Amino acid sequence: MSAEFPVARPRRLRRSAAMRRLTAGTRLHPADLVLPVFVKEGIDEPAPVASMPGVVQHSRDSLRKAAREAAEAGVGGMILFGVPLVKDAVGSAADDPGGIVQRAIADVVAEVGDALVVMSDTCLDEFTDHGHCGILTEDGEVDNDATLARYASAAIAQARAGSQVIAPSGMMDGQVAAIRAGLDGAGFAHIPILAYSVKYASAFYGPFRDAAECAPQFGDRSSYQQDPAGPLGEALREVRLDLAEGADAVMVKPALAYLDILRQVRDTVDVPVAAYQVSGEYAMVEAAAANGWIDRNRAIMESLVAIRRAGADLILTYWATEVARRL
Ligand code: PBG
Repeated sequence: MSAEFPVARPRRLRRSAAMRRLTAGTRLHPADLVLPVFVKEGIDEPAPVASMPGVVQHSRDSLRKAAREAAEAGVGGMILFGVPLVKDAVGSAADDPGGIVQRAIADVVAEVGDALVVMSDTCLDEFTDHGHCGILTEDGEVDNDATLARYASAAIAQARAGSQVIAPSGMMDGQVAAIRAGLDGAGFAHIPILAYSVKYASAFYGPFRDAAECAPQFGDRSSYQQDPAGPLGEALREVRLDLAEGADAVMVKPALAYLDILRQVRDTVDVPVAAYQVSGEYAMVEAAAANGWIDRNRAIMESLVAIRRAGADLILTYWATEVARRL
């Protein structure tokens, strides 16, 4: 028996729901949640994503409605991913002023104004016919430095359309610096960059590649995204480099399998830290719940609390609107 017992009885603070609420150390707030959305060019009705029950590829109209609902629920932000009709080797739709993402950004800003922060993922994989996050050399390798100009151009197109945060996710070296210089030169020095600084080559992105129709047509992303078993200092190095290049906030992705990394980053930086609860994390809970194997709502809240407790200031989650309503 511990010398502290019977005086010390931790259960005293757990006895009632009111007591637990009063003493809670981790709270979720709708304003900290960001809803990722997919918008597909050329469809009139939203199309369900089979591997993400409850998530759809939006039409431009249904996206406006989803934005309004998210804003009404108090969600803090929305991040847009586009599925263009036409893809090519350089991802031309990414920086086309008439491209689906640019149109959708303008739609959403017109719909909700400042009621939530409209963000855009800046990458090429949704727009390239080969599905890689950059343009390729003749040998079929991702050409880091040639890709940077494409990212800067896409970021400028998104900012012109009204995007309020640029979120580069391609994991090219120097991408934040290139985008910062591009934005500044185009009159967007006031637009912040939320850098996907720490992004692992993860099996948990599987369902997203259905939703965004962007699976690589050959090879994988291991030469640019981080190895889950990679060097222990790698995450902090990526963060440090992105901050030196001008990132205003940083992200860790995926979330649940990388809570240790999230905590390291939170303890190291003085900027907001975001965590992305990715498509596979969503699909696992939905699939198990559909089978009656876990309590869906409790599993959702528990995973979000864990991500918050590990240090996330912002959480990107496909459940954002639903959870915001529940909070
Ligand atoms: C790349 C991007 C991906 C995700 C967000 N941005 C896919 C990838 O890197 O393969 C994944 C998000 C998720 O799985 O929910 N533009």
